[in-house]
Amino acid sequence: MVVSRYGRALAAGVALALVCGLPARAQDSSTAEQTIDVMNKLFGKHPGKRANHAKGVVAEGSFTPSADAAKISKASLFAGPEVPVTIRFSDATGVPTIADGAANANPHGMSLKFKLSDGADMDVVVNSLAYFPVATGEEFRDLLTAVSQSGPDAQKPTALERFVATHPAAATAGSTAKTPSSFARQIYNGVNAFIFVDKDGKRQPFRFRFVPVQGEEILPAPEAAKREPNYLMDEIGPRVAKEPAKFRVLAQLAEAGDPTNDATKPWPESRKTVDLGTLTVTKVVPDSAEAEKALLFMPNALTDGIEVSDDPLIDARVQAYAVSFGRRAQ
Ligand code: HEM
Repeated sequence: MVVSRYGRALAAGVALALVCGLPARAQDSSTAEQTIDVMNKLFGKHPGKRANHAKGVVAEGSFTPSADAAKISKASLFAGPEVPVTIRFSDATGVPTIADGAANANPHGMSLKFKLSDGADMDVVVNSLAYFPVATGEEFRDLLTAVSQSGPDAQKPTALERFVATHPAAATAGSTAKTPSSFARQIYNGVNAFIFVDKDGKRQPFRFRFVPVQGEEILPAPEAAKREPNYLMDEIGPRVAKEPAKFRVLAQLAEAGDPTNDATKPWPESRKTVDLGTLTVTKVVPDSAEAEKALLFMPNALTDGIEVSDDPLIDARVQAYAVSFGRRAQ
């Protein structure tokens, strides 16, 4: 459905280009395509790989809902019993050989595909940022473009310095994500707001948060830089084979007036959180490199009882992930 919507937008762009008599390529370049183009410029083109979060490892596990979860949302995910989950942990950037301990490998990501009892999938795609550097897809494209124009030889003030001057979260968001000792020892945040709908139709905006039961463990930056380049990818399999890794799945609840349409604005830590259940990671799949090719996690692939909010970043992500998938599947 998502991809077909993207397909329609692309078709509309092509049609417009034909009417105008211009080459289709110049006319149909959407924000999402421009974003992927600039990612490819920054990180290089790597056939078959994701434009962002290119390096990852695929695991399997399960989700067991809490009793409280079913009170706040009618989603079948929360009605129980436990459901299987496919999980992909990842490093940031589109560089498939990035060292796991590199500063630019932050924010690390966790993507989840819940196999619901009705046979459908539900996706959740989270990372270790406390909040996002920008509020819209256009701003994210512009931020990446500014980065690409601000190399060591760029004239001052650089495009990036000019961007940051008018987008304060872009200066601070990055430092909220730090290198963990293990993918299983990192807190991952939803960043975007979603909406729970309960059985009476009551709506409650929230943000996901995944907290390791063993606690978060962050490495000092000099130690992270000294780690083996694949230490995170290599560590998770043997760890969960010995003992499954567990995360508490939380929802931070918005109060009236908390913005749902601006991922640069975290809600106060004092907001109530609801324990939705436990995510258990039990094994890394035998051929992770092959498995990740077929996987596409979509931030709007939800289920009855969980809806998107008015956060414009969600649709921007959906469009960008579809373009990235289209290119890596070729
Ligand atoms: C406009 C904002 C954003 C854009 C344009 C963007 C772009 C992308 C792209 C192009 C991919 C590769 C998709 C694929 O080929 O399957 C990706 C992957 C990913 N993104 Fe984003 N992203 C954005 C915001 C976010 C946010 C807010 C989060 C988390 C809160 C996030 C977390 C991730 C993760 C975890 C992956 C890896 C997905 C996987 O494991 O397959 N991104 N992103």
